[in-house]
Amino acid sequence: MGAPVPNKIDVPPKHWDGAFAPSSCLVIITTMDDQGRVNAASFGTCTRVCHDPVHISFTCAVGKDTTNNILANGQFVANIVPFEQDVLDKVLLCGLPFRPGVDELERAGLTALASRVVKPPRIAECRTHFECSVAWTHQWLHRVMVCGKVEAVSIDEGCMTDRGEIVWDRVKPAHYCGAPYKDRFVPVYNAPLRAKWTYDGRDEEFREGQNWREAFQSKD
Ligand SMILES: Cc1cc2nc3c(=O)[nH]c(=O)nc-3n(C[C@H](O)[C@H](O)[C@H](O)COP(=O)(O)O)c2cc1C
Repeated sequence: MGAPVPNKIDVPPKHWDGAFAPSSCLVIITTMDDQGRVNAASFGTCTRVCHDPVHISFTCAVGKDTTNNILANGQFVANIVPFEQDVLDKVLLCGLPFRPGVDELERAGLTALASRVVKPPRIAECRTHFECSVAWTHQWLHRVMVCGKVEAVSIDEGCMTDRGEIVWDRVKPAHYCGAPYKDRFVPVYNAPLRAKWTYDGRDEEFREGQNWREAFQSKD
């Protein structure tokens, strides 16, 4: 028996962009093969690449189960991983090169939860879930880049404010340090530091009609 599944709240489209925060983070991607078998794999390099409509993207090696399932079925779910020891341990298991057809969620003791609109499942232990249909793929060298259009977003109850911002210390997003660092992760959920800045330049340096003075200035 796993931990109780938290109540997942559907996020309205106007807050999908804010839900993928920070704009690049550690995820577990779930896909499904032609026989309906679930696959899960870890990705440290998943990035939000378009605000409206929200699209997210990542790359995967040719021949991997994730790549094959996506090319065959055109759907995936990016599950944002919390910086918690027991989940990070399972992230490493999901990165092992299991044979096709092996369900990494079962192997790692993670809980599959039916998605809202796509066939691959969400992962209950992750806080936020981006259900995607594939917009395009591009293969180069031995890699495939996948760009997914977000079709639905859900998040644990209590993890998003009314303004559509994540509650950082509940979502607890993480970064993977990268393959050279083996099993190391860093948290990215400290209270965000607000940069106070000014630019001492000339208006002619900027694109016509673009108000650089208000760029990146939050209201509060
Ligand atoms: C923490 C972590 C982060 C990873 N990030 C990436 C990544 O960004 N890109 C990638 O191609 N593989 C990444 N991997 C490796 C894949 O998870 C691994 O190749 C996995 O075997 C793919 O599984 P699949 O064949 O089930 O798709 C990562 C592995 C771990 C443990």
